[in-house]
Amino acid sequence: AGFPPPGPAITCILSLTLKQSLMLSSPLLLFANRRDVRLVDGEGVQGESAIVVSELEDAAAVDFLFDESLIFWTDVSEEAIKQTHWNQSSNSVVVSGLNSPDGLACDWLGKKLYWTDSETNRIEVANLDGTSRKVLVWMDLDQPRAIALNPGQRYMYWTDWGEEPRIERAGMDGSSRKVIVNKNIHWPNGLTIDLVEEKLYWADAKLSFIHRANLDGSAREAVVEGTLTHPFALTLSKETLYWTDWQTRSIHACNKHSGDKTREILSGIYSPMDIQVLEPYRQPYIQTPCSNDNGGCSHLCLLSPLQPFYSCACPTGVQLKADGKTCKPGAEQVLLLARRTDLRRISLDLPDFTDIVLQVHDIRHAIAIDYDPVEGFVYWTDDEVRAIRRSYIDGSNATILVNMDINHPDGIAVDWVARNLYWTDTGTDRIEVTRLNGTSRKILISEDLEEPRAIVLDPVNG
Ligand SMILES: *[C@@H]1O[C@H](CO)[C@@H](O)[C@H](O)[C@H]1NC(C)=O
Ligand SMILES: *[C@@H]1O[C@H](CO)[C@@H](O)[C@H](O)[C@H]1NC(C)=O
Ligand SMILES: *[C@@H]1O[C@H](CO)[C@@H](O)[C@H](O)[C@H]1NC(C)=O
Repeated sequence: AGFPPPGPAITCILSLTLKQSLMLSSPLLLFANRRDVRLVDGEGVQGESAIVVSELEDAAAVDFLFDESLIFWTDVSEEAIKQTHWNQSSNSVVVSGLNSPDGLACDWLGKKLYWTDSETNRIEVANLDGTSRKVLVWMDLDQPRAIALNPGQRYMYWTDWGEEPRIERAGMDGSSRKVIVNKNIHWPNGLTIDLVEEKLYWADAKLSFIHRANLDGSAREAVVEGTLTHPFALTLSKETLYWTDWQTRSIHACNKHSGDKTREILSGIYSPMDIQVLEPYRQPYIQTPCSNDNGGCSHLCLLSPLQPFYSCACPTGVQLKADGKTCKPGAEQVLLLARRTDLRRISLDLPDFTDIVLQVHDIRHAIAIDYDPVEGFVYWTDDEVRAIRRSYIDGSNATILVNMDINHPDGIAVDWVARNLYWTDTGTDRIEVTRLNGTSRKILISEDLEEPRAIVLDPVNG
């Protein structure tokens, strides 16, 4: 309530505010507000905020890449990570097919996005454009939420507010994972790193405090205790700590050492979620082993605390070759799965067995699935669309092969030798065949079938 409507005027205020703040070095706070992403001046007095992007479904986590003027956020309704350039009103999807992306962090040195998903219980990484997406952590995660990076020291940190609440640390390549805080912790929400003093700050919504510790979890001490209502996310700039609170629906600030000088930056916020201080000082540049030629990696070059301080990595489900640099062309053994409203593939080459949804629209009641290794097409029957369809294994080139005179297509089988497709129909009670491209359709058996279902072929023995 009371916010100015979005429009060109706001964009103007935004660029002006941005310029002034950079010149006056007054911190600009970037925050997600479910329906929009906003900026507010950390030293401002009028309590005004400017809209960066509006008309969003459910923006939760935010981060930015200062050098490239990019702002990223997760949308938990759209199940996606999106981005905008901060002087543009348009936005685009970077990563889709997520479940509940609660935390997001931008690796400004390696130019990567890291995020947590509290439904799939995974931590993933991808390039800034969403390519080479990889699952980094998939075991022993319960409700991962906030994630923070320290690319200078090549570590990532995250909070988990599940059955065994804790803060964990691992290398940015997923190595050297370790629990660093698991006592006196209940709902760890926000997490941020003080790069200068090398401290970790976090907010606990149940225990109503903000604590800090060294980056390995040692030397823990209280910053603000007992007076908070429901702190959610936190961030810092120089001497000041900023946080959002779900109950006060405000952004608050205090001195990061003493916890004193508590003040309110902005109140009456619709739904304050994640918050970041938008300034170059939060993203200092240094050379990394990935700076030159992507570390020699064919796909992902990830920073690591272990010698040689980086490791090459491949998209989910794909193995790295013995050279330690190059990825194989794709997964070698894949399990295909038809669910009612989507198709999934699971690489059996790697231990994480992550399921990836094929990007095919309008799957309503998929039943049977088969694969042709020669051309690389996946074939399936859909009992509600009443069709046999196919697409490539990434979901591209989806087409309908058969949709005439088809009732309840059920089982399906590819004859990869003679290049034919067989299926059963429990409506017409027939077994039929066509070429793999849908031509030359023929009824093979139409008598003495009652409810023909599964079908398999043995081409070698005919
Ligand atoms: C946004 O800013 C960049 C760099 O400052 C500039 O090149 C570009 O033209 C601007 N775009 C718009 C739409 O104003
Ligand atoms: C797949 O789709 C692309 C783009 O629409 C098209 O150029 C290509 O010919 C298609 N391939 C097949 C085998 O249908
Ligand atoms: C379908 O496949 C058959 C055999 O592979 C081929 O002879 C025919 O030209 C194809 N038809 C179309 C429309 O692609």
